[in-house]
Amino acid sequence: MNDDCRSHDSAYRAKKSNGYSGWDSDDVIAQNLRNLGFLLNLVRLKPGYKVLDTGCGAGNISFWLEEKGFDVTGCDSSQAAIDWALEKSAQNGSKTVFLCHDALREKEDWTRHFDLIVDCHCLHCITGKDRDSYLANLYNWLKPGGFFLLASMCLDKDSDEDSSNIIPNRHIAPCQAIIGELTKTGFTAVSTHIDAEGDGFPELLLVAQKPR
Ligand SMILES: C[S@@+](CC[C@H](N)C(=O)[O-])C[C@H]1O[C@@H](n2cnc3c(N)ncnc32)[C@H](O)[C@@H]1O
Repeated sequence: MNDDCRSHDSAYRAKKSNGYSGWDSDDVIAQNLRNLGFLLNLVRLKPGYKVLDTGCGAGNISFWLEEKGFDVTGCDSSQAAIDWALEKSAQNGSKTVFLCHDALREKEDWTRHFDLIVDCHCLHCITGKDRDSYLANLYNWLKPGGFFLLASMCLDKDSDEDSSNIIPNRHIAPCQAIIGELTKTGFTAVSTHIDAEGDGFPELLLVAQKPR
């Protein structure tokens, strides 16, 4: 287990014992779901499609996707997060499959398996060269024509890219740099929005597609 998993594990245990419903406060979870709803409306997928929620944490986004009729898998590298998601799943009768899996590692049975991959605040937890491996895996796990929905902290458009690692263990980059990484992986950026209304970092909301 690497240090990053350990720190996410202990953060999840602390958040759970402090009455949180997941990684974020309930207000932020609600805002994240509004943002993802906005992105999902842009791609208009049908119920039954296979969806991966990568870095699913305690499963709140996975459950929301399941309510929309998708066939959902949630993966996270933190065992504490997955245990929490499974506990909730047992309580709410969810059919979502939750799996402790480091998305930096290949998973052969996911090759060209998903119609849609959703990443809510996982990409900015991945730093350095690992980002190439992460994005390459997501690309490989999508079917041709599949969509990638991303919500990620970013920097203002005028910021210097050299300041992209201003929080330890986080990679906060300008929007154009993130789009560049996706394009280099093979994705086509379909739609990009920046939400700069909140108190913290601006939020990049992006739809990308794997070519058919
Ligand atoms: C900021 S939290 C967001 C959790 C969830 N998406 C949400 O919105 O509640 C980021 C999550 O990404 C997970 N994560 C970080 N690196 C990962 C990796 N390499 N593979 C899978 N999950 C990872 C962390 O364990 C953590 O649960």
